[in-house]
Amino acid sequence: MESLSTIERNFLGLQLTEVNLRELLSLQQIPCSIYGWSGDHFEVVIYYGDQADNRVMLGLIKKHGRLFVLREDLPAITKELQNNLLHISRSVSQGDPEKKIKRHLNLLTVNMHHLYRADLDDHTLRIQFQSARNLAQFLLDKPKLLKPIFHHYRQQMGHHYLYSQPILSSLALMGVLRESRQFTDKEIENLFITSFFKDVGMSLISGHSLQDNHYQQNIFSDHPANSHDILKDRVPLAGTFLSIIKNHHPFAPAILHDVNDPNHQESRDDQQQFIVGSETALISAVDIICAMISERPYRNQLTLLDALEELKKVMQGRFPAEFRLLVSYFQKILK
Ligand SMILES: [Fe+2]
Repeated sequence: MESLSTIERNFLGLQLTEVNLRELLSLQQIPCSIYGWSGDHFEVVIYYGDQADNRVMLGLIKKHGRLFVLREDLPAITKELQNNLLHISRSVSQGDPEKKIKRHLNLLTVNMHHLYRADLDDHTLRIQFQSARNLAQFLLDKPKLLKPIFHHYRQQMGHHYLYSQPILSSLALMGVLRESRQFTDKEIENLFITSFFKDVGMSLISGHSLQDNHYQQNIFSDHPANSHDILKDRVPLAGTFLSIIKNHHPFAPAILHDVNDPNHQESRDDQQQFIVGSETALISAVDIICAMISERPYRNQLTLLDALEELKKVMQGRFPAEFRLLVSYFQKILK
């Protein structure tokens, strides 16, 4: 590296792009060279083919702050992570299940980021769907793991909440649905997946104009319909579940649609025609509770009591039994 001329160094700098540290820490093997900035030049700090050692990686992150890869090598990192995800989701029952599930959830969250970045990529969607289904089936088989896994996932930091929130609320939803004793395992599996993918329409926020608050508000308003459109005809999920996704914010219609925007008339009509059933109410309410009891960069987390008080205002009149179920379940798992 020392022998590179200034022109060569500048050219290298132009081809490098910062790599997501969470992705780097999730790799088992390094699929391309990783670069760090050393004061006046870039240097290779990890070589292609090296085993990923998190202790070494954390040391490099501490030393260099940011790490880089050649732009053309980014797909190799995504591919390696997706291969790891597929492998672990197919072998989760072998070895220590709790340890395997934690790694599985980490890779699922990383791949959620990939999916939001490339929501039209069939390969990424297929891997995410298969892996989420495998996780649901495994947890239904080992329900005692639900509580420790929910707590582990809730406490782990590092992933952006945009990608982790749907996963956290799906874990809680599975527990709530089991507790209700009203659903078969197959229904719980499909509702878990429905909850898991319901916010994929937020991909438009993660991919564009992060600084543009007005744009973000519009995308947030439209994300249930966007999620439906992104998933329709691309995942093996029955129409009933896709309809739930399209209408998954029944308790917050006022913030879902800008009443001054005539373009939103059609989706408002859809919303009115959709009959909110117990499943939709539970998916939405669990999501609201999980979001409220989680820390966000722009606010502190609420207590469970405060979250339930808020939910009570919109839910108790129409869904008293579901509200009681949520109170009982969350009080039990959060005590
Ligand atoms: Fe949502």
